[in-house]
Amino acid sequence: MKKPPKLGIKNLSVTFETEIIKNISFKVDEGEIVSIIGPSGCGKSTLFNAISGILDQDKGSIEIDGSTEDQRQGRFGYMFQEPLLFPWLKVWENVMLGFEIKGLEKKQAKTKAVDLLKKFDLFRQANFYPDGLSGGMKQKAALLRTIAFNSDILLLDEPFGSLDAITRSALHLYLLEIWKKLKLTIIFTTHDIREAIFLSDRVYVLSKKPATVITSIKIDLSRPRKIEDQTSEKFVEIERKLMSLL
Ligand SMILES: Nc1ncnc2c1ncn2[C@@H]1O[C@H](COP(=O)(O)OP(=O)(O)O)[C@@H](O)[C@H]1O
Ligand SMILES: [Mg+2]
Repeated sequence: MKKPPKLGIKNLSVTFETEIIKNISFKVDEGEIVSIIGPSGCGKSTLFNAISGILDQDKGSIEIDGSTEDQRQGRFGYMFQEPLLFPWLKVWENVMLGFEIKGLEKKQAKTKAVDLLKKFDLFRQANFYPDGLSGGMKQKAALLRTIAFNSDILLLDEPFGSLDAITRSALHLYLLEIWKKLKLTIIFTTHDIREAIFLSDRVYVLSKKPATVITSIKIDLSRPRKIEDQTSEKFVEIERKLMSLL
């Protein structure tokens, strides 16, 4: 029997005073990277809040591994658009907190935090406070804390939005390395077409508010991906196609 998708969204709508999300359906298979691209204010963060269970104004169905769960908070590693590292905690303490919230006892949480920092190139910054980190390092630390909390499905809301182009490019490779090593399932939002193409297996394009899925496109670029791929004919062709749809 075919495995159900890791995450299956069917006919999801969210209404506050007005309708923000209108009848959105999409699916993400285990191990995929899927991006949700759409203009600012269209409802991307609202979509993630609904998926993660923070909002209860949603209608439709949200299935994880083929079944609906009323208690979805805690099922996702959710990295918010605004990085939420605690400024009074050092990098390792921030990451450790992820494991503690998940329920590990202190000693084990600390060991796992240190392991994660070592494995993903942040150990040298372990004793820094967030304010002492560059923008890119902050995002790396926030990403590791998110993974510490839950790495089953990651929801990353504009994870690279505040970074300059060069740092952003480095973070793309960083994310791909983590994804590969930890075999993650990742959904992220962006308004950057090239970023969406470069990282994803599939891109869903949202309309302006109320957000609907205009189209989805499969990105059949081979992996592992390299920065240079972004100038390949195939890449540019996909980019042109997406631009015409946005
Ligand atoms: N809790 C809320 N109550 C009322 N309106 C909201 C709430 N959260 C978001 N919105 C509205 O939903 C729309 C989409 O916002 P958002 O999801 O943040 O868009 P995006 O992340 O795509 O920029 C905006 O018009 C915003 O004002
Ligand atoms: Mg947003």
